Amino acid sequence: MSKQAIGIFDSGIGGLTVAHAIKKELPEEQILYFGDTAHLPYGDKSADAIRYYSIRISKFLLEHDCKMIVIACHSASSVAYQILKDFFDNRVEFVNVVDPLVRAVASLAPRKVGIIATRATIESDIYALEIRKANPQIECKSLATPLLVPMIEEGFSTGKISNDIIDHYLGQETLTDIEALLLACTHYPLIRNNIVSYYQHNVEVLDSTKIIAMEVKSRLATAKLLSKKQEKEDQFFVSNYTKSFADTTSLFYGHKVSLKQENLW
Ligand code: DGL
Repeated sequence: MSKQAIGIFDSGIGGLTVAHAIKKELPEEQILYFGDTAHLPYGDKSADAIRYYSIRISKFLLEHDCKMIVIACHSASSVAYQILKDFFDNRVEFVNVVDPLVRAVASLAPRKVGIIATRATIESDIYALEIRKANPQIECKSLATPLLVPMIEEGFSTGKISNDIIDHYLGQETLTDIEALLLACTHYPLIRNNIVSYYQHNVEVLDSTKIIAMEVKSRLATAKLLSKKQEKEDQFFVSNYTKSFADTTSLFYGHKVSLKQENLW
């Protein structure tokens, strides 16, 4: 089973930041990625819609014999993790992005932590609830930052437009006096440097993709499922192919990858 692929899914191609971090940490693993570009963005969808899409995609990944399924999308991890576990009833191990990040924040033990994410993630309140459960001393301040995803997808990660939008969100009263900031969205690692500069290095900005990759590694090791040698090529599927998605893969994966359309719907 160790030779089987790690399935990774996201609402679109932003989850390639997570896939890239996993590949960097585990170069001998085969990756099978699914981006639900037909339904992007999940951040503005209802929890029920996200759950329905997540079940269908997980079925597809299971049909391809994935040994583990990583829910790279924070919005899907926030609202669909439990239903996926229940629905597939131990047929495969699911890794969500919330749990390892909650543990990372709790061990850092900041007095006040800011959480920025999509509307779906913030409305679920899962990060704040779980962080408080793990360490009741930590005060959580959550803020939905919906303009950041389209901004990054359109290539505005640096420059005046992006800095104005970032300044607008980080300047909100909610985030005053935070000691750490959790980037709870697949896309935000691309603007991490701008955020670090905004705070002049005085706020710990958590690199979520590295933490998630380490979690995948440790879960595979525990299950004795680590691959020693990759035998099949990585594959990247999307539910709706466009040239613009294909071009943007390099933004999130470091280099361009070839996307295949898979009509799940
Ligand atoms: N992948 C989503 C997340 O991490 C961001 C993009 C979207 O809204 O679909 O929450």
